[in-house]
Amino acid sequence: MKDLSHIAQSVHASTTLTIDAMFKQMKADGVDVIGFGAGEPDFDTPEHIKNAAIAAIKDNFTRYTPTPGIMDLRQAAADRLKADCGVSYEPTQIVVASGAKHSLYIALRTLVNPGDEVILPAPYWVSYRELIEMVGAVPVIVTAGEAEDFKLTAAKLEAAITPKTKAIILNNPSNPTGMMYSREDLIALTDICVRHDLYIIADEIYYRLVYDGAVFTSIPSLSPEVKEHTILVNGVSKSYAMTGWRIGYAAANGKIAKVMSNYLSHSTSAPCSIAQKAAVAALCGPQEGIRAMQAAFQERRDYLVSRMNRIPGVSCIKPQGAFYVMMNIRPLVGTTLHGVKIESADDFADALLKFGLVAVVPCGGFGAPDFVRWSYATSMENIKAGLDRLEKFFAEG
Ligand SMILES: Cc1ncc(COP(=O)(O)O)c(C=O)c1O
Repeated sequence: MKDLSHIAQSVHASTTLTIDAMFKQMKADGVDVIGFGAGEPDFDTPEHIKNAAIAAIKDNFTRYTPTPGIMDLRQAAADRLKADCGVSYEPTQIVVASGAKHSLYIALRTLVNPGDEVILPAPYWVSYRELIEMVGAVPVIVTAGEAEDFKLTAAKLEAAITPKTKAIILNNPSNPTGMMYSREDLIALTDICVRHDLYIIADEIYYRLVYDGAVFTSIPSLSPEVKEHTILVNGVSKSYAMTGWRIGYAAANGKIAKVMSNYLSHSTSAPCSIAQKAAVAALCGPQEGIRAMQAAFQERRDYLVSRMNRIPGVSCIKPQGAFYVMMNIRPLVGTTLHGVKIESADDFADALLKFGLVAVVPCGGFGAPDFVRWSYATSMENIKAGLDRLEKFFAEG
């Protein structure tokens, strides 16, 4: 038989989903394991959102909708971006897709040709690299270390640009680091992008999950030139605990929005009609649920960070957003724990899962080989027990 597509075969399984699957399998097998791999809020979707979906079904709102989404939802997304991010889009500039991940894929499809370079700051969310490669483009990884708060600097960005550079992906606040760019940071980076005529894919899916009163700046709000160069990606998954509903959206200039919509029309068509109605309720309804979720996340982050930094051998910096903490395991590399030689974050995560019964995500696949990611989208009780286990793992190792 002829070989399968090279591009498709080079796609790796998602590390985050792999760990999550192992964790779920161990749980199903009755093993008492605690998981810190989750990339989704552990809260339930609010009642008024669920009720909107139930009403949609009862009203037989169950047929195809226009490809880029129902006008109510495009208007609701535009209104929310205006209210929360200070950026104005016409509803026709909003393109709804089946999750923000799909919006990112379509954004890349729309912008790049095979062989184009896309700058990707590391640590990066594992899917970005695969998505770039899936469209035949070349990821140019620029590492932003812990000493730089995991934030790309203007100098590093400028140095990575070549005549083939077409775009950059900026994720703010970041998965996996939880770090947030300030307005000044973003001005410095986006000035360079505009000067070199680069497109910016701004993934702002965690924008509501920021702590300590930090002020979030949305990239397209910086200037009309920056806005023109940006495809903004957002969605309801993280802010409204709606990961399973699969609604994301992109906002961009009219030409980009049209191309994205055309591409969608021949791939998925519109997202689920019922989930679209639920997303309208999420974006237009009461927003108090987000504040409660934010407060719970902040309390968990504070506990996790302060206790982790008291455990010898590991450390972390305090992130301002999302729900992840990067634990530095560099001092452990070369040591032996529970008979396992620790050469990498993968070895550490494996040993911690087997001998400590704690599931964390090794960040080799995120371009950060000395780190493991802890998600605090889990109860305080689990966080306390997980850290007890980490201490015991070291004490007995
Ligand atoms: C940075 C980032 N962007 C996008 C997504 C995907 O969101 P959605 O569930 O809406 O596809 C995730 C999910 O983990 C994420 O972490």
